[in-house]
Amino acid sequence: MDFGVISVLLILGFLAVYFTVYFVYAFFYVVLPMIYWGAFFAKTDDVSVENMMKLAEIKSGDIAVDLGSGDGKIVIAMAKAGAIAYGLEINPFLVWLSKRKIKKAGLLGKAFILQKDFWKEDLSKYDVIMMFQLSHVMASLEKKLDRELKPGARVLAKYFVFPNWKAKENLGMVNLYIK
Ligand SMILES: C[S@@+](CC[C@H](N)C(=O)[O-])C[C@H]1O[C@@H](n2cnc3c(N)ncnc32)[C@H](O)[C@@H]1O
Repeated sequence: MDFGVISVLLILGFLAVYFTVYFVYAFFYVVLPMIYWGAFFAKTDDVSVENMMKLAEIKSGDIAVDLGSGDGKIVIAMAKAGAIAYGLEINPFLVWLSKRKIKKAGLLGKAFILQKDFWKEDLSKYDVIMMFQLSHVMASLEKKLDRELKPGARVLAKYFVFPNWKAKENLGMVNLYIK
């Protein structure tokens, strides 16, 4: 076999591996969750995570939660800021991934991921509540938070807003609401 044929085979092999990995990723993190739970996954960007932390003013011992915690990025940031941080996540692949990231970050015992549907959880114990959810979800969440949150709870929402609550402050794409 001459050099040209080997090069073409190597390139084709590389492309096959690349697209297989890409499609497996897309299937498990996007397609399957959409079909089974109607839940999409997109990561909050670094600047917005920083803005969420600034606005939240987390104090040591605050109990914090990310509703739909994805790969655990926000849960990890909240735990690093001193909170006892929880993530409620419905997608088992993201639960597995975020638990791995928490272990790698040395945050076992400070950050916890629970494989749960946040609609079925009582949110009354949390001081800080974060979320990055679509508009129609925000509308229903507003009612749930109204019913369950304690007075003074800080709610941070990336990009999408509540239909009735007025934000107390905003920074970039993040809004702060106080119950
Ligand atoms: C846009 S992603 C945000 C991920 C993460 N909070 C972030 O900002 O990087 C929304 C996440 O909410 C999860 N989710 C959607 N509905 C849910 C539900 N009812 N209970 C728990 N998790 C849910 C999805 O699986 C997805 O990981």
